[in-house]
Amino acid sequence: MRKKLPKILVTGAAGFIGSAFARLAVKKGYKITVVDKLTYAGDLARLAQIKGKYKFYKADISVPREMESVFRKERPEVVVNFAAESHVDRSIKDPSAFIKTNIAGTQILLDAAKKYGVAKFIHISTDEVYGDIKKGKFHEDSPLKPSSPYAASKAAADLLIKAYVRTFDFPAVIIRPSNNYGPWQYPEKLIPLSILKILRGEKIPVYARGKNIREWLYVEDCAKGILKIMQKGRKGEAYNLGSGAEKQNIQVVRALLKELNTPSDRICFVKDRPGHDIRYSLDRRKLIREIGWSPETEFSQGIKQTVGWSLGQKKWLLSKWAGVTRLYK
Ligand SMILES: NC(=O)c1ccc[n+]([C@@H]2O[C@H](COP(=O)([O-])OP(=O)(O)OC[C@H]3O[C@@H](n4cnc5c(N)ncnc54)[C@H](O)[C@@H]3O)[C@@H](O)[C@H]2O)c1
Repeated sequence: MRKKLPKILVTGAAGFIGSAFARLAVKKGYKITVVDKLTYAGDLARLAQIKGKYKFYKADISVPREMESVFRKERPEVVVNFAAESHVDRSIKDPSAFIKTNIAGTQILLDAAKKYGVAKFIHISTDEVYGDIKKGKFHEDSPLKPSSPYAASKAAADLLIKAYVRTFDFPAVIIRPSNNYGPWQYPEKLIPLSILKILRGEKIPVYARGKNIREWLYVEDCAKGILKIMQKGRKGEAYNLGSGAEKQNIQVVRALLKELNTPSDRICFVKDRPGHDIRYSLDRRKLIREIGWSPETEFSQGIKQTVGWSLGQKKWLLSKWAGVTRLYK
């Protein structure tokens, strides 16, 4: 007989990575409840494919009364927490929402999960908690040295979770993915922003000389990795989730220009982001050894798929333009 699958509460599932995870979990037969505040970054259009197959609460993870009500009604067995303010540039302009959602929100969610006795709490952190590294790779026990207010808020949440594991024997697992890209990403991040700029016939802004290196992970691979860690990850452990595909920002933009048959004079170098991390790189041996996960999508393939998707969803991308211009004014 097939084992009964646990009921999952997914926070932030109207966002980019959370929605990819929600679509995958439903496809695999899980019953899910979605909690999302629907900030500028949240959009239920990302869940259209699974419409009618999930329960939705428009709620804020940093409001205890709202979380209490969701947990009381739903009694989830597993929580996967994607809900966050996620954009570094916004955290530099104003960190307050990052502190509220990413730190206080995590604590409130942890307390609700603890009170209602969830069996597993999967927290989505980031590779940015380690800061940057010129050579070599970060492993899960590397010191946390965040550079931006965003990364600091994510590192604070990680430390809080570690404290709950130690103090309350709380069943949490931390996942630290590298930079994601793919369908449905809000166009304030490098790849969809560049595509949007190309589609609008405008110059693509690239920080400094575009030499900063990120490790690019296709979002559907990331969702699969998270699901596998949810099933097999050990309580109290952290897992890096990287692809090994390290690229300079300028290489990424050039790949997009090529894919869209656009000349390279459309690149425009702009003043660097303050505190800009030089390079991220994750050691993923623990993930391979314990979880048996490896990415399936080559970077060039992922870029092709992302561009193809963007051309098909041009209307959706263009509809986000007003929010993006407000940010970079
Ligand atoms: N995008 C990346 O490359 C990347 C890489 C590593 C880790 N992460 C982490 O993965 C998670 C998801 O990232 P993303 O890119 O999908 O983000 P996103 O900004 O696309 O989505 C975040 C979602 O959380 C919701 N949300 C925000 N505040 C909330 C609150 N207080 N209560 C309830 N919902 C709230 C938003 O409405 C949105 O739907 C985040 O925790 C982020 O830190 C992202």
